[in-house]
Amino acid sequence: MGSGTAMVLTASSQLWGNTGSTLADTLDAFDKNVGTDEAFWETIQSQFRFADGLAYFNNGSLGACPAPIREATNAFRDILDDFPSKYMWGGWDDEKEKVRTKVATLFSVSPDEIALIHNTTEGMNLIARSMDLNEGDEVLLADHEHTSAVAPWTVWQASKGIQLVRPTLPILPKSVEEIVDVYRKAITPKTKVLSICHLVNTNGMLLPIKEISKMAHEKGILVAVDGAQGAGMIHTDLHDINCDFYTVSAHKWLFSPKGVGIFYAKKTAQHHLQPLIVARGYDDPSIRRLENYNTRNLPEVLALGAALEYRETIGAQKIHDRTFALKHYFRSKVASNSILVLKTPGLDALSAGIQVVEVIGKEVGDVKNRLFEEYGIDCRPMTKFGLNAVRLSFAIFITKKQIDFLVDALETIANT
Ligand SMILES: Cc1ncc(COP(=O)(O)O)c(C=O)c1O
Repeated sequence: MGSGTAMVLTASSQLWGNTGSTLADTLDAFDKNVGTDEAFWETIQSQFRFADGLAYFNNGSLGACPAPIREATNAFRDILDDFPSKYMWGGWDDEKEKVRTKVATLFSVSPDEIALIHNTTEGMNLIARSMDLNEGDEVLLADHEHTSAVAPWTVWQASKGIQLVRPTLPILPKSVEEIVDVYRKAITPKTKVLSICHLVNTNGMLLPIKEISKMAHEKGILVAVDGAQGAGMIHTDLHDINCDFYTVSAHKWLFSPKGVGIFYAKKTAQHHLQPLIVARGYDDPSIRRLENYNTRNLPEVLALGAALEYRETIGAQKIHDRTFALKHYFRSKVASNSILVLKTPGLDALSAGIQVVEVIGKEVGDVKNRLFEEYGIDCRPMTKFGLNAVRLSFAIFITKKQIDFLVDALETIANT
């Protein structure tokens, strides 16, 4: 074993030797005894060390690293700074490949379909910059798509005279078919790419990407998914969804260090792609050609591997189930209150860990400010699409006690 590997293992055992193994033991004990008990999730919450008094319902904007991931990141940074040239230029190649394999396992795909990038914005740029489109070709992006998906098509392809087709999504659809229908009607013989969010950042609506991919592929259209708000929040098997591209910000729902992203490209779609940045390795025929930045943030990339280990320790299914449990708990608490109106569809096929709620009669900016100033609750105000609602994110560090606190705060604000 080379000394580089030994040092990384030291970093890993530092990771699991301190808070990590305590976490693993605690989780094990809870699993054996009270696996679904709220105490289990309070243990998880204690691993996230938020500022005193902060109730963080804003994971949709940016996630947080739990303590073991913070420690792993710092350990990897130390190793790099102990011998920079060695680790930046090859010393960590094997470790990087292990991260790629872990990511591939998470999404049930092959490591040869995964590039380790910086964020969703980069992934969407990579797709829009690469595509060989012609004048008159159409790219379909619904009105709720994020600027990080829309701007790349506008900037990289506008000069070629392509058209962006922007259909309107319903805010509160009653069925999956209602959304599929919007896309079906917007597709024309000129549609070449359909770019779609897994979960929209506006009102938390989950889009039926599997059904839409199937429909698009029947017409020979490529499907690019902005997975910023889906990956990590809900279990995602990318081969089953069968999109062509899927791009992720690991710093949101995967709790990695900031500036770490994942890019999936189906093998059969990779020939469409060209690196955004060309450097040594640009001619690598594998997907690795898309991540040749030369000097880069390797400690953070390796700490994504630690974040995925952390996730595996908790259990992917458990995280998925918890997300929906928190959603239902929150929705049931506000359901009977006529002043608090949900602006996110209720069906599990149509929403998950992000919910938006309007406090009737109050301006959302004021609600957001009061939540923070009076209760330490951070959330995102949403005003687009006629929404006057706060966006609340239910990540795994949120407990039911905090939801009780949040709903009490919303009710007080509504009444005063
Ligand atoms: C749906 C969606 N897409 C893309 C992004 C951009 O993410 P990043 O800044 O990590 O690239 C966000 C960020 O909030 C988002 O919600």
